[in-house]
Amino acid sequence: MNSIDSNIPQRSSEEIIALRQRHLNPSLSTSYRSPIKMVRGAGAHLYDEQGKAYLDMVNNVCHVGHCHPSVVSAGQAQMAQLNTNTRYLHDNIVEYAQRLSATFPSELSVIFLTNSGTEANDLALRLARNYTQAQNIIVVDHAYHGNSPSMIELSPYKFDGKGGQGKPPHVQVATIPNPYRGAYRHDDPDCGELYAQDVQRATLAIQEKGEKPAAFFCESILGCGGQVVLPPGYLKAAYAHARAAGAVCISDEVQVGFGRAGTHFWAFQMQQVIPDIVTMGKPICNGHPMGAVVTRPEIAQAFMNGMEYFNTFAGNPVSCAMGLAVLDVIEKEGLQANARLVGDYLLKHLRLLQQRFPIIGEVRGTGLFIGIEFISDQVTLQPATKEAKAAIEYMKELGVLLSTDGPYDNVIKIKPPLVFTLENAKEFLSHFEATLHYLLQSQS
Ligand SMILES: Cc1ncc(COP(=O)(O)O)c(C=O)c1O
Repeated sequence: MNSIDSNIPQRSSEEIIALRQRHLNPSLSTSYRSPIKMVRGAGAHLYDEQGKAYLDMVNNVCHVGHCHPSVVSAGQAQMAQLNTNTRYLHDNIVEYAQRLSATFPSELSVIFLTNSGTEANDLALRLARNYTQAQNIIVVDHAYHGNSPSMIELSPYKFDGKGGQGKPPHVQVATIPNPYRGAYRHDDPDCGELYAQDVQRATLAIQEKGEKPAAFFCESILGCGGQVVLPPGYLKAAYAHARAAGAVCISDEVQVGFGRAGTHFWAFQMQQVIPDIVTMGKPICNGHPMGAVVTRPEIAQAFMNGMEYFNTFAGNPVSCAMGLAVLDVIEKEGLQANARLVGDYLLKHLRLLQQRFPIIGEVRGTGLFIGIEFISDQVTLQPATKEAKAAIEYMKELGVLLSTDGPYDNVIKIKPPLVFTLENAKEFLSHFEATLHYLLQSQS
């Protein structure tokens, strides 16, 4: 039962599915063969209408835990006091801008607030094009950067996927730097630099047209690309190539920012680079819609061409109050350190399982952003997509929520709220081992 006292009728899953089909965007899919009606969330758990608890290892949006009381009460208190737009002076927005920029290297000091990751990337695109006076963009293969027309055009995940229209002429796609199955592998110490040469190739392709690149867009850890940790030296070399051709470098931290990587607050810091623009979203307000862009003062200054950037909802006092509460909770509860501790534990124990179950081709990741790649052949690395999907369904029955992604949809993604504990990790590992046995039995 939904415990909220409201006049909204409580419907069965079947009724909700029927109404979705009649009235909602038909291209929107649901998770799992048999979709779940969730009614409550707390910490790392979601609860369905029967009260069954699910360990949520998918939700990297409810970063500090579902319905965290501090974030909820910050939103409630501010909503009851005032919610308006950024044309009035307010303490929350300046406090938030100051606190958020303090998490970045000092070069990145100017904040723009938006309502989503897509809007943040759209704005980053405008900032880059304005600053460079160029149009062409370099992206990494299989990347997803958002749902607007301009972001679909920068997302090979979409334009090369189902219903996609292919690569637009102003976009160059750099090879995915995947040291597990790409041209250069983990055993090559120059792997990062070698993959980055494809960014240089992309700049040359643009220059051959007599044009210039405006930006190199890259996630700091590749999410839709299959939880790929960038090989050492990749961003340093890729940024050097992009900048030599006049482009600015944009780091999309929508999935992986705010301490998830464990070792660093921002995942680009793992690569010892400073981007020109960083975009944020998802975890920024623990589920309340907000996004942000941080950039260098000279890029923000160049954007002052007379056309104002106004965004009705962005930066409102409620969003900023909630964003501040998220930053406070990350700090007070030591969630970045927790991501590192629990992430290391998961990586270690998943690698032990890998030694016993050859279906696990690779375990990779950092902090609480981990991928388990399923393969059916150790030599050809043939993706075991069907098995990865079967594992997800089986884990759901055991009360654990996971998802799959990657170019072959054979990578099981782990990206739970950062309040995920060692106990949660142990519970997951025991269910995952049972699932691997189940897969073995169903193959024989
Ligand atoms: C890396 C990345 N960038 C941008 C976005 C777009 O964010 P939003 O859905 O909040 O617009 C997403 C969403 O999945 C994402 O994964």
